[in-house]
Amino acid sequence: MRLIIDNANVSDIKRLYDVYPIDGVTTNPSILAKTGRKPYDVLKAIRELVGPDGELHAQAISRKAEDIIREAEFIREKLGSATYIKIPAIPEGIKAIKELSKVGCRITATAVYTPLQALVAAKAGADYVAPYVNRIDNLGGSGVETVGEIKEIFENNGIKTMILAASFKNANQVKEICRMGIDAVTLQPELIDSLLKNDSVEAAVDRFISDFEVLCGSGATMIQN
Ligand code: E4P
Repeated sequence: MRLIIDNANVSDIKRLYDVYPIDGVTTNPSILAKTGRKPYDVLKAIRELVGPDGELHAQAISRKAEDIIREAEFIREKLGSATYIKIPAIPEGIKAIKELSKVGCRITATAVYTPLQALVAAKAGADYVAPYVNRIDNLGGSGVETVGEIKEIFENNGIKTMILAASFKNANQVKEICRMGIDAVTLQPELIDSLLKNDSVEAAVDRFISDFEVLCGSGATMIQN
């Protein structure tokens, strides 16, 4: 299971890469807007951080297939051909995915809300589909169940497209998705941090240190003379 950062704040990304086993970065237009910076300034900095072959997802904005294709080519020129081009799984997006997949462009079909939308995007040639777990929950559906259905449909139809579960708001959603065995999840920095945040764990670690200091003195560690 790949653990991806759903954010474009370069210092947050640096910090998370430093600490956690991170496999890549996803962005979207709203995420880029939050930085207040020029899109390619941010995206190039992220590309530098993740390396030339690292996993970076950047979204095309256009609505028409021909324009999406032009944007995809431009993004690949600017950020490298390893970049996954995120394309909404709408009819014009699917048309663009069909063309771009033929020329080896890496594609993440995004804004996926239903299993059959995922199926069509996968058949068109997307490498990833990105179902929006929390947004589906907010519509009164179940994001977790939807991802389960996509997984079942892909498995039962021999589809190799990967699932990149997206749009999470809490750790339980992440746990339920991971339980079913998933290719990748993309999480906001706060949510990644929250996976390890636990007062009982902090208290246990504090107790280990204070017990050891009683034995060996203040500031003592297992490095001893
Ligand atoms: C993936 O990159 C999606 O665009 C993102 O996870 C959507 O998240 P949101 O529903 O919190 O905006």
